[in-house]
Amino acid sequence: MNTQTERIIDRLNVLGSISDEESCISRFFMTNAHVIAGKMISDWMISAKMEVRKDALGNIRGILRSKHSKAKHFVIGSHYDTVFNAGKYDGPLGIIMGIEIVQRIIDEDIELPFHLNIIAFADEEGARFNTAYLGSSAIAGNFDSKWLQRKDDKGATLHDVIIKNGSLVDSITKSMIPKKDWLGYFEIHIEQGPVLCNADLPVAVVNSIAAQARVNIKWEGTNGHAGTSPMHLRNDAFCGVAEFALAAEEIAVLHKEQLVATIGKCNVSPNTSNVIPGHVSHSLDIRSPNDQLLTEVMATLKEKALAIAKKRQLQCQWKIMQSNASVTCDHKLKTMLTSSIVKANINPVIEIPSGAGHDGVMISKIAPIAMLFVRCKDGISHNPKEYTNPKDIHEALNTCHLFMNTMIQSNLITNTST
Ligand code: GLV
Ligand code: MN
Ligand code: MN
Repeated sequence: MNTQTERIIDRLNVLGSISDEESCISRFFMTNAHVIAGKMISDWMISAKMEVRKDALGNIRGILRSKHSKAKHFVIGSHYDTVFNAGKYDGPLGIIMGIEIVQRIIDEDIELPFHLNIIAFADEEGARFNTAYLGSSAIAGNFDSKWLQRKDDKGATLHDVIIKNGSLVDSITKSMIPKKDWLGYFEIHIEQGPVLCNADLPVAVVNSIAAQARVNIKWEGTNGHAGTSPMHLRNDAFCGVAEFALAAEEIAVLHKEQLVATIGKCNVSPNTSNVIPGHVSHSLDIRSPNDQLLTEVMATLKEKALAIAKKRQLQCQWKIMQSNASVTCDHKLKTMLTSSIVKANINPVIEIPSGAGHDGVMISKIAPIAMLFVRCKDGISHNPKEYTNPKDIHEALNTCHLFMNTMIQSNLITNTST
């Protein structure tokens, strides 16, 4: 391990110790731990000689400016929010490695033909408001002001949470980097799947990101006494959900080569063992690399939910929280990344489609994107067992330095920055 890799490991451990929970890692958007983590990242950026600011959505933005007057922006980014009971690599690895990329440019006094930005996005997981990519959507100019009325589990609106954190909601639109100023976007992320482990390789080029939809579904039945209500006279909202969950699993299994569906969050009310549940709300997360299939399955599942509700005399409300089409990574950036992996003597170079969502999804609406995946042990992620070997981090960082050299020297830059 060299100094840079050691510092990456140290910093991953530092961020991994900043949590709202004592028993696990949890840093939802704009909680105490999230704010503390953002401050820590900002300090690291400052120590790498970057100009740093926090924008209205809590994105931490470091910039190392080019001396060229017409320079565009190249952004390296990832997120610092987490799921509940998270690992310490999902998100932070890409931010911390980005800072090391800048550090080398400073240490070697390399002249930049573009402004190099490191952005630590405030929300990628969407764990608090069930709307992923809040941070990157603001940077891409795609933030929908209707989202401000969304509520977290305690009833706080996104609007109020932003204000409480001292930010100005009106400034969200000012977070955007205009389309004409972008050169490109690069994200380093753990793979969160088993392909690199099976291929025994440290890194891979990402070629695409799957389409994703998130739905909130509410079921309304009737609360009742668990001891006295005969089975045929109940309107048990939870039984409706149970039937729907199995239907979602069945259709996903039918398309298992191309589609996954998950109900990961479920609130049962009144959540008491001797009361028939009168109200249940739950999430549905569906992903596929095939946009059309995703649309069709969504329609089928909505019909299924309504049919189950009718049969069981329940009310069912279906609300789409988020819907993003699949994304293809930029060909030119991908070619440059591939040649950097070759130069790093990593053989063979493979391409992987991402089933997980990344901030690159939002940024792709405004700029060309590329992503590098780094192997994680047994493909485990969204789990405290998430682990990436320091040797793989070292190889990934070396690849990133070579990629940056190529970016700095490439025609792509000189053609667009002058
Ligand atoms: C983020 O990790 C997602 O894919 O949901
Ligand atoms: Mn992530
Ligand atoms: Mn994640």
